[in-house]
Amino acid sequence: MAENILRDANADDAAALAALSRETFLATFGHLYRDEDRDAYIAQSFSPSIQAAEIADPKTRHRLAERDGALIGFAKFGAYKLPAAIAEASARELHRLYVVEDAKGTGVADALMRWAIDQAVADGAAAMYLGVYQDNHRAQRFYARYGFERFGEYVFEVGAARDAEFILRLSLPRAQNGRQNSR
Ligand SMILES: CC(C)(COP(=O)(O)OP(=O)(O)OC[C@H]1O[C@@H](n2cnc3c(N)ncnc32)[C@H](O)[C@@H]1OP(=O)(O)O)[C@@H](O)C(=O)NCCC(=O)NCCS
Repeated sequence: MAENILRDANADDAAALAALSRETFLATFGHLYRDEDRDAYIAQSFSPSIQAAEIADPKTRHRLAERDGALIGFAKFGAYKLPAAIAEASARELHRLYVVEDAKGTGVADALMRWAIDQAVADGAAAMYLGVYQDNHRAQRFYARYGFERFGEYVFEVGAARDAEFILRLSLPRAQNGRQNSR
């Protein structure tokens, strides 16, 4: 059986990560938008040059899951950017967590989530946040398994569409020996 490999992204992954981001975004949310809004959002969010810039950004970390040399999932982690005021200056955000259809339910997403939690704890973050579409019930069940709790709501705009999103918060234990956040 093919083995799943997890590794950090590097500059050479930009094109493949852009393709995977487009594929998984379309599969999950493509039906929600007008064609022109969807295409504009994808172009402005998931081009190889944007992925390259995000991979190079020292405040952002990408973890890739690979099987047989092909990407099957990824997590994007970094600074807190959601539009809700929070108390913790140390907070981190799980910006994206996507796996391809046939990797769902196989533990790949768990491995990516454990990596993100480890990153946040090692950074000395008191909490990790994420945004999730209110009708994305599978993702919400998954996040609840890790102890994420409802913190707030916001609206995510894609062209004419206004998606209602939940902000979820995970309380984190203090790192014993990890990197301490300097912010
Ligand atoms: C969200 C995601 C990363 C979760 O990974 P996964 O491997 O599918 O998660 P799991 O199968 O381990 O867990 C899913 C949970 O939802 C449940 N579930 C499955 N289908 C469901 C559905 N249609 N509605 C509600 N719950 C559902 C499962 O039973 C499981 O819950 P349980 O552990 O309490 O039984 C993955 O589904 C994914 O990449 N989805 C598409 C992209 C996406 O939505 N990303 C998140 C954006 S915020």
